[in-house]
Amino acid sequence: MAEKKHASGIVASGDLTKRVGVEQMRARGVDVEQLIELLIDAAGAEFTTYYYYTILRMYLAGNEDYKEICEDARLEDRSHFELITPRIYELGGSLPRDIRDFADRAGCPDAYLPDPPTAESILSVLLDAERCAVRTWNEVCDLTFGKDPRTYDMASRILQEEIEHEAWFIELLSMERDGDVRPSGHFRRGTPGASPYSKNTGFYNP
Ligand SMILES: [Fe+2]
Ligand SMILES: [Fe+2]
Repeated sequence: MAEKKHASGIVASGDLTKRVGVEQMRARGVDVEQLIELLIDAAGAEFTTYYYYTILRMYLAGNEDYKEICEDARLEDRSHFELITPRIYELGGSLPRDIRDFADRAGCPDAYLPDPPTAESILSVLLDAERCAVRTWNEVCDLTFGKDPRTYDMASRILQEEIEHEAWFIELLSMERDGDVRPSGHFRRGTPGASPYSKNTGFYNP
């Protein structure tokens, strides 16, 4: 009988210390340890941004349209955290034991409530945070493209929404600060924080 070419490989039968899914990535040139660290930093940024956006959103009181859009971006960061965290464990990594370490190593700056907390200053903070997220997920896409389809798929789903978020806050800040119309192509989410690309419910609760 002909030998089945995928019946065996680097990982021996019964070896639980290695993962074929990881060894396949290494064979394609991915620095898995570096990727895990980057994903933990990125997950930290999503998690802390979710927290900070909660505060920023509260202070948009009176600007109910801005508040609603901030709420979508806020909840979608939670989806991003939920989507990428299981992948960290699949790759053999782990979230830091202490949330303080997690917050400190977040890949993006703290999105502190500005002083004074005007709509303009809050929108500026939101826009900077989205721009950091766009850079982060583009980097993950670059490191995994053609080598790690699973992480790439997740990062690119997240990136789709970060690009939308950037466009939303450009539109809002442009009008608020400069009085310039700069449409984002924004359509209202069906439900708050719908996460059309990144919701992991479909994966885990079909
Ligand atoms: Fe995000
Ligand atoms: Fe975002």
